[in-house]
Amino acid sequence: MSIHPLVPPNIRDLSPYVAGKTVEEVQAEYDPPQISKLASNENRMGCSPDVKHEVAKALQQVQDYPDPIAQKLRALLADKNGVEAENIMIAAGSESVIANLCRTFFLNDEQAITADATFVGFFVQANIQGVSLKKLPLTSDYRYDLDAMADAVSSDTKMIYIANPNNPTGTYITKSEFERFMRLIPDHVLVVMDEAYYEYAEQVADFPNSLDYDFNNIITLRTFSKAYGLAGFRIGYGIASKEIIGNMMKTKLAFEPTTPAQAAAMAALGDHSFLRKSIKGVEERKKRLYAFFEEQKVSYVPSVSNSVMIILDTEKQAINFTQQMLENGVILRRVHAFGLPQCVRITIGRKKEMDHFEHTFKKVMS
Ligand SMILES: Cc1ncc(COP(=O)(O)O)c(C=O)c1O
Repeated sequence: MSIHPLVPPNIRDLSPYVAGKTVEEVQAEYDPPQISKLASNENRMGCSPDVKHEVAKALQQVQDYPDPIAQKLRALLADKNGVEAENIMIAAGSESVIANLCRTFFLNDEQAITADATFVGFFVQANIQGVSLKKLPLTSDYRYDLDAMADAVSSDTKMIYIANPNNPTGTYITKSEFERFMRLIPDHVLVVMDEAYYEYAEQVADFPNSLDYDFNNIITLRTFSKAYGLAGFRIGYGIASKEIIGNMMKTKLAFEPTTPAQAAAMAALGDHSFLRKSIKGVEERKKRLYAFFEEQKVSYVPSVSNSVMIILDTEKQAINFTQQMLENGVILRRVHAFGLPQCVRITIGRKKEMDHFEHTFKKVMS
């Protein structure tokens, strides 16, 4: 018997997530002298050295289920963000918080609005839940078209998803744009502000911290996967009104994130000097990359996150370029899945990786 009829059409139509190649795969396939993984917006500087010690201690408790509400971490995050513990939900990455949001708020066919070139994780979770997704084009300078999004709101709209800064473009919406937008959005629409790259952008003068505002219909998402360098642990969180979080806690998978992940996050939060150093390093090497692209006459989109997107002439050029870089050990991300077929995203790596990128870029492009 085929199980085909048992699978709902919205799941049948999905494709499994295809991640970028791993270092081991590239090694086995092409055996280049150096490999630089600049594809997944991870923190190439690693994570705080304090994490190792705390995780080693946490390993002694892995026979027990984790604290389902991560009380200690929740208290630290509440204190850091000036909210109460009941305003916070911690889960296995902000992607898991997104999954939880979709489970909590949607019945089939209800509507969400977002952009066509934004974090695909939201599309996937919304599709799983049978949400009707209205994806609006970005502006010509690769930014959210907030006016078009506000105009698209109808009585059927339940949620708006915005990644700020956006992935894969690295662009952001400003304080005044955000404030104007929120005045246009009715209270019954939940606005998801996914701030996965917040730590890289917060020093930008007109970047809005959505936690500074008193709107009851916002949920702010943050993660330990980027600036804190803990992507492999899977831990992130959402901050919103107690009513929103209270409902999300009903549908959360009880025992995520794991005990070692909770310990890692607490250790990472305490190490301000690692965080500062890794953000400063990204800023410096991003400026250097801009200068390189200007010298090479390559179009790029200025970014406030830890990656930079370049715009090539055609999709074919983007495919060939990414493949040749890969064969030379530089793993990059084409962003066709985000609706930008001629664009390629480069994560800012360490100096050695950026040297490798520039050297290989010149070789491939010549
Ligand atoms: C905008 C955005 N949100 C969320 C995520 C997922 O983060 P996490 O590792 O916390 O699930 C990513 C990862 O690339 C992202 O770019």
